Amino acid sequence: MIIRRAEPGDLAQIAQIEGLCFPEETAFPPGMFAYLIRYSVALVACEPAEKVLGFIIGYASGTGGAIYTLDVHPLYRRRGIGRELIKALEEELRSQGVLTVRLEAALEKPEAMELYHKAGYRARELVKNYYGRGKHAVRMFKTLK
Ligand SMILES: CC(C)(COP(=O)(O)OP(=O)(O)OC[C@H]1O[C@@H](n2cnc3c(N)ncnc32)[C@H](O)[C@@H]1OP(=O)(O)O)[C@@H](O)C(=O)NCCC(=O)NCCS
Repeated sequence: MIIRRAEPGDLAQIAQIEGLCFPEETAFPPGMFAYLIRYSVALVACEPAEKVLGFIIGYASGTGGAIYTLDVHPLYRRRGIGRELIKALEEELRSQGVLTVRLEAALEKPEAMELYHKAGYRARELVKNYYGRGKHAVRMFKTLK
């Protein structure tokens, strides 16, 4: 597996994985990914044959950065791909001057919170209705070393 910058040619696979990971009402619309690939930091984990297994998207703004979304294809989970994508994004953000990374994780997804906690993120606040009525998020932060 390699991790590299996402390219326009990855869009169809990225949108497909997003559809497998999130219900339509919370998924990023496919058109949004073209914008994010161009203007944010988007990385894909893929096999040599260019099959996309997962992706992560974040951004850097001064010394602050964020993780917008992280998706791993359901058939390729629990192999460390999520962990590697987080690490690769942090390295990229750090190289752009970021010192602190923020993210929001859905309260109803304990596996994502566990993954981020293991990666060094700590919950700082509850954001009520972040994903829609009654769907709360936890805002987590990590200071990069
Ligand atoms: C959350 C997600 C990205 C994890 O990806 P992954 O590649 O399977 O994660 P990893 O294999 O790197 O897991 C690293 C650690 O996270 C934790 N973890 C990951 N998935 C877990 C699960 N289903 N249950 C419990 N812990 C889990 C474990 O501690 C794991 O370490 P271990 O396998 O050594 O026990 C993946 O399940 C996913 O895409 N879910 C749908 C989209 C989503 O919720 N994204 C997060 C957006 S906020």
